[in-house]
Amino acid sequence: MHNGTFIAEEFVASSIKELKESLGNDIVILGLSGGVDSSVVALLLHKAIGTNLQCIFVDHGLLRKNEFEDVMESYKKFGLNVKGVRAADRFFEACKGITDPELKRKAIGKTFIDVFNEEARKVENAKWLAQGTIWPDIAESHSDKGTIKSHHNVGGLPEEMHLGLVEPLKYLYKFEVREAGKVLGLDDYFLGRHPFPGPGLGVRCLGEITPEKIAILQEADKIWTDNLREAGLYEKIWQAAAIFVPVKTTGVTDGCRTYDNVIALRAVNSKDAVTAQVVPLPWEFLDKVQNDIITNVKGVNRVVFDISSKPQATIEWE
Ligand code: XMP
Repeated sequence: MHNGTFIAEEFVASSIKELKESLGNDIVILGLSGGVDSSVVALLLHKAIGTNLQCIFVDHGLLRKNEFEDVMESYKKFGLNVKGVRAADRFFEACKGITDPELKRKAIGKTFIDVFNEEARKVENAKWLAQGTIWPDIAESHSDKGTIKSHHNVGGLPEEMHLGLVEPLKYLYKFEVREAGKVLGLDDYFLGRHPFPGPGLGVRCLGEITPEKIAILQEADKIWTDNLREAGLYEKIWQAAAIFVPVKTTGVTDGCRTYDNVIALRAVNSKDAVTAQVVPLPWEFLDKVQNDIITNVKGVNRVVFDISSKPQATIEWE
């Protein structure tokens, strides 16, 4: 956490200068996630060292619907040197049979590191690994009451890579990262995006992760997100999520009994993710969303809205 008032212009200018000085002509590798944090790191480094920044964007199959394609296109528009790696099958294989949230995070994190390492090794003469770690990641991962959730983007650096670590945002809160992104010319598509966890929909798909469940969740999540955007609510919410709840309940469609899964919807406001309050959304809006999801997503016959705050709940269900 930095001291004093945060002025985005000053932060950007001094970071670029410091990165330029400390990195010189070194090659830096950066894993992009499609989120605002790693995108801001990418632009800072792009301005500081240009094409010596080599970005890698791994598709773990747990991204939002069409996210990989959309994000790759945007990154290329910024002129970033970015390699997209499709690896969904490896992640699904690694998660087979795992139901415990922390073990899932570990399996996803380990596979991510394996895939990332393979790609990183192909980058010749790399000296540094850049990461979009921000202050709440560090604070929550090292709470004196023990680890709450092992956010995989902290402390996951494998020794054998022999790379130094560059974390230009590590003393910033999320809103400060967004302000810095604006100064760097990041467009609204990135700036206004809700935070999205590293393990992606993996921690929103309760129990075992399968491609079938993820496909259902992606459809429901898209309907939820599109509705929020169309209603002008997306920008007013800090983080929204759809969660696949693998509990079958009885329903009825066209007079016939159904026995299908539950989708939970979550919408919270927060400043730094350490605490979060539920956003009271209009009833008519929620009614439209539940109808859109149940009508259009095969395998879902019930939608619930999560009214729990953090604490005592957390934002993600796993
Ligand atoms: P929780 O669920 O702990 O989430 O209240 C707080 C914030 O952290 C995000 N989150 C994660 N981010 N890897 C990440 O990179 C993770 O494993 C992870 N778990 C939670 C969550 O989306 C929220 O913004």
